Amino acid sequence: MITINENYLKLQDSYLFSTIAKKVAKFGEEHPDKKIIKLGIGDVTLPIAKVCGDAIKKATDEMLQKETFRGYGPEQGYDFLREKIAKYDYEKLGVHIEKDEIFVSDGAKCDTGNIGEIFGNDNVIAITDPVYPVYLDTNIMAGRTGNYDEETGKYEKVVYIPTTAKNNFIPELPTKKVDMIYLCFPNNPTGTVLTKQELAKWVTYAKENKAIILFDAAYEAFITEEGIPHSIYEIEGAKEVAIEFRSYSKTAGFTGVRCAYTVVPKELKAYTKEGKEVSLNSLWNRRQCTKFNGVPYITQRAAESIYSEEGQKQIKENIAYYQENAKLIREGLQEAGYTVFGGKNAPYIWLKVPEGYTSWEFFDYLLETVNIVGTPGSGFGPSGEGYFRLTAFGSRENTIEAMERIKNIK
Ligand code: MLT
Repeated sequence: MITINENYLKLQDSYLFSTIAKKVAKFGEEHPDKKIIKLGIGDVTLPIAKVCGDAIKKATDEMLQKETFRGYGPEQGYDFLREKIAKYDYEKLGVHIEKDEIFVSDGAKCDTGNIGEIFGNDNVIAITDPVYPVYLDTNIMAGRTGNYDEETGKYEKVVYIPTTAKNNFIPELPTKKVDMIYLCFPNNPTGTVLTKQELAKWVTYAKENKAIILFDAAYEAFITEEGIPHSIYEIEGAKEVAIEFRSYSKTAGFTGVRCAYTVVPKELKAYTKEGKEVSLNSLWNRRQCTKFNGVPYITQRAAESIYSEEGQKQIKENIAYYQENAKLIREGLQEAGYTVFGGKNAPYIWLKVPEGYTSWEFFDYLLETVNIVGTPGSGFGPSGEGYFRLTAFGSRENTIEAMERIKNIK
């Protein structure tokens, strides 16, 4: 008899964004006359930069010629891209990363989801709450979380670290010892950031407790304020305790192109049960070589193109467009009387839902009254209850229209 991985049965409903998509599709079918504005999932709307398009065309031409055709590439990514990442994403921050510490992939969602495979299943995980659902769900699948407790809305073995207005969205160090710590800054979903000093506390904690930080920096390109770290490796000693995930999805509009990378420094060690040190870089390399055949050559050429002067100019124009959307949403909501957070160094705006509503009730209310889709805060964890997320990745016209609709709610 074939059996299943029963951990899957511990998962709640469907994946958050699939649940929302289903609800919205149903509403759309029932109200075909309504123009629905989608500010729910953080999916980009601007086309990719021209430099990327040109690189894709050129690489396609190479693939069409016998002399320049390429088959399997290196599982870790082509050197031409890894070298540019080391130089332009890290050297400029004063951080030295070797090219063989960089693993190019098809998305930070996949990498943050897959990374758990190289860690033991009895590690205690800590997540900020609210949190990007992939970190939790993939640990449920792996069997690291224990069962779901209906009453608290939490999994019994997971350490939840609340990040709410009450603590100014600054997660406090866990009081219980944890091993795998997921941090995402600029934060999805709250759009808030940590200073270097705040982040340094986590690095110190990880060192003292032989823990690892899984740092998701997918939104670093949206930082506008000085002094906010773009990479965890800006903190001294972080290379000994942190894996960093970066993505071109939001930085270069690649949600449909698919390219990202993960940095696993060679200093990074984890332990066998007997306490023997093992290199995580080697383990991740082994995992990728076995399970992954690399990102398409054409895609990697597109990613490489953003590091030219013209490429930087073009992607920054797109980022600025979304940053302006974020400002319009922040200000629009404030004018409409909402309390808002985030949106200054991130493409997400996190608002408090009006008194008397739960996050999901507010979701239904906005969809039904003004036909706007957002993401209910409680979908990101129990501490997200009472909050709601809007994304700045919509078109300018839709963003303006959405704010007008919200301001005009009687
Ligand atoms: C989000 O809306 O939180 C993100 O777009 C989801 C993702 O990047 O996978």
